[in-house]
This record gives sequence, C-alpha cells and structure tokens, in this order.
Amino acid sequence: MKNKLIRLAKFIAAGGIASRRAAERLIMAGRVKVNGITVKEPGRKINPNRDHVEVDQNTVEALEKKYYLLFKPKGCLTTVSDPFGRPTVMDFFPAKIKKGLFPVGRLDMDTEGLLLLTNDGKLAFRLTHPRFQVPKKYFVTVKGAPSLKDLRKLSKGVLLEDGLTSPAEVKVASQQKKGTSLIMTLREGKKRQVKRMCLAIGHPVLFLKRVAFAFLNLEGLRPSDYRALTRKEIRKLKELVDLM
Ligand code: URA
Repeated sequence: MKNKLIRLAKFIAAGGIASRRAAERLIMAGRVKVNGITVKEPGRKINPNRDHVEVDQNTVEALEKKYYLLFKPKGCLTTVSDPFGRPTVMDFFPAKIKKGLFPVGRLDMDTEGLLLLTNDGKLAFRLTHPRFQVPKKYFVTVKGAPSLKDLRKLSKGVLLEDGLTSPAEVKVASQQKKGTSLIMTLREGKKRQVKRMCLAIGHPVLFLKRVAFAFLNLEGLRPSDYRALTRKEIRKLKELVDLM
C-alpha cells in the first residue's frame, strides 16, 4: 500500500472487517482504536503503513492488493473452488498468495493461455465489462478451411443465441491438413465465445489458446507458470479502464 493517508472507515472496510457504512458505525460506537487511543470520527485520516488500528482489540491488517498472470494449462477449471474436487487454476498458487485471489473472467477447462487473477474487485469488474472493450487475443485452430465469407462473418458479427457478437479482428495464421489456425481479437467476453462463433460458421474449434489480454502476453512463461504483475503493468491496466 502506498504511503498516503486514507480515511479510517475506508481502511477498516478495505481490511474486510465490515462495509464502509458498518465501519463508520463501529467507529462512532467507540469500538475502534488508533495507536491505542479510541477514535470516534469516521473521517479521521490514518497512515496505513504507520498507524496501528484495532477493532474490539483485534488488529486490522491492511488488505494488500495482488495481481497475477497465470499461463493456464489445459485440464483445470477457472474457478476458486470446485465442489467435485477437480483441478482448478488456484492449485498453481501457494496458500499465502491464493488467499483472496480470484480469476478475472474465465477460460474453459480445455482452453489454455493467459489468465489474470487478483483480489481487486473493482479492477476485475471493469476489465471484464464490455463497456471498456479490453482486447483479448486468441490463437485458434478450427476444423477445415473457412472461406473469406466465413472469416468476414467472424469479424463483422455472428448471431449467437445470446445476441450478435461485436466486431472482431480475424487473421489467418496458417493452414494445415487438419485445419486452419486463426488469430482472433475480441473486445467482449461472452461465455465460450470463440468456440460458439467458430461453430456458427461451420468450423468447430480444435485448439484454443489465449495469447494476450490487453497489452499483457505470455512471454517467458510455460504452461502452469505464473508471475506477479509489475507496478507499471498494474498502473497501465488501471488506466485502460479509467481507474487512474
Ligand atoms: N472463448 C471460448 O470459447 N473459450 C474460452 O475459454 C475463451 C474464449
């Protein structure tokens, strides 16, 4: 957390103890101490790095924001936990990092590639909201050889059961005997969108990998590897969705 002053109620709420409103009530009820002294003004500013805050004698720890990039391998679910005990994307993180972390959007079990995970709900919400049009780039191998007309359909918009897809960039990467590899960039994230789009033009997906999310890519990572985002990357992501 940066070395700046924040409102006491906000700090308590960020620590996950109570909502902002409830934190204000705890303060006014005299249940909160700052450096051992009861403080009754919710608007009081504190320095999260220096001041010691307690609610009912329990220390409030500053909730550190975490931002990770995982090269999701095939064969695991994009979820925090699975009632059937199947492998999930959380299995790649040690307990300390895993706490509070959740995936930003989702990749199917048989899809591999770049997945962001964070405990920053505000950023995650915006990154997945269609209003912000964050580009997601996929390497897709489809069965057969789509015609130019098919490719144009993919890029202009395909009618799916939940509506018309937004304009997408579609390029042919290579052609093989068994199929055609495409690079598709989408700016929305409907469920199983790439697979449904390709199926709608009659060319089912054989292989799917997300190779980029906004300006982030998988450089230097192998399947199952993860890394923390740099401060610069976090700032750029926030700027992208008007959070800076
Ligand atoms: N589109 C899909 O169909 N599946 C994914 O996992 C991601 C995008």
